[in-house]
Amino acid sequence: MTMTGQPETDDASLQGVMLRGAWYYAAPAAEIARGRMMHRTLLGEPVLLGRDAEGKVFGLRDTCPHRGTLLSRGDFDGREVECPYHGWRFATDGRCTSIPSQCADQKPQAGDIRAATYPVAEAHGNIWVYVGAVGAYLPPLPVLPDAGATPQLHLCQRFPCNIDLAVIGLMDPAHGAFVHKSALWRTRQSIHEKQKSFSPVPGALGWRMDRHPASSNSRAYRIFLGGRPETEITYTLPSVRVEHATTGRYHYTGLTACTPVTADITDVHHVMYWNVPGTTLLRPLVRRVAERFLDQDRQAVLAMQEGLAFAPPTMLVRDADTQTRWYYRLKREWLAAQAAGRPPENSLTPVVLKWRS
Ligand code: FES
Ligand SMILES: [Fe+2]
Repeated sequence: MTMTGQPETDDASLQGVMLRGAWYYAAPAAEIARGRMMHRTLLGEPVLLGRDAEGKVFGLRDTCPHRGTLLSRGDFDGREVECPYHGWRFATDGRCTSIPSQCADQKPQAGDIRAATYPVAEAHGNIWVYVGAVGAYLPPLPVLPDAGATPQLHLCQRFPCNIDLAVIGLMDPAHGAFVHKSALWRTRQSIHEKQKSFSPVPGALGWRMDRHPASSNSRAYRIFLGGRPETEITYTLPSVRVEHATTGRYHYTGLTACTPVTADITDVHHVMYWNVPGTTLLRPLVRRVAERFLDQDRQAVLAMQEGLAFAPPTMLVRDADTQTRWYYRLKREWLAAQAAGRPPENSLTPVVLKWRS
């Protein structure tokens, strides 16, 4: 049951579905040195992420085609991965190059075997893995305006909930004063009516809170960037939020990317870039504040998850919950377009929303 007649969240077929055919944040680039590899579980799939001797990142399915052992538990010499169990070797493009136990007249030979691969991309110090069927065309990576080659900070928290619950918290404009109680940020007393204009993101399933002067109850921006920062926030499905604040001279870019580990576990990555001189020393403090924020979001989501386990009737109000409604609408379109083999269409139109926060 919903109060305003929108069916979006009543569609049980959407709940917790992990969207395939997208780039997902996998790891900070700095965590994979040359000649190293690591395991990641993404959307329930085992992924070996590695960086070869030349510095290029690659992704293999992290289960050995022989008996399923995790290849990432084996050795990597910067060119080939060797399975720890029977020593089958694989090049970074998935070709099997050696099966030590096979005699020359036996089948299969190495040339008959391939490990599956994943498209992997590195940009602005982040490593993304494309999960889904690989066609002729891969979508572009999320755009990070003003982000340099390396972030100032990366943090990640694991949310024991499905992707929807993790993502929806990022686009919820009305929880700040209650969840993130902080003198530096928002307080209950500072709640006031706001109007923000939104427009669809061209060529993607997403929307943008158009550029506007930073909210008067977001003191942190004004203290940190100085002057009169303007901010813009972009959300694109499946799970990427990009916030950009700039005074023209100084800027801050925040990427929040949720990656489903499994259907019930979601990693929330938060990556920050800024160019304010002399602030490198502030990093530990910013990290502490950001960790606390993310943990507050996590606690809020978990309390909601516990309540939802009782299957209560819920409602989406206007306009504070409108972005959540958009999320489900675009998610439904993602799946419908994929099922029909057509490009997705963003049906959102420019609109002004108002709420109190
Ligand atoms: S399981 Fe990998 S070589 Fe046998
Ligand atoms: Fe939050």
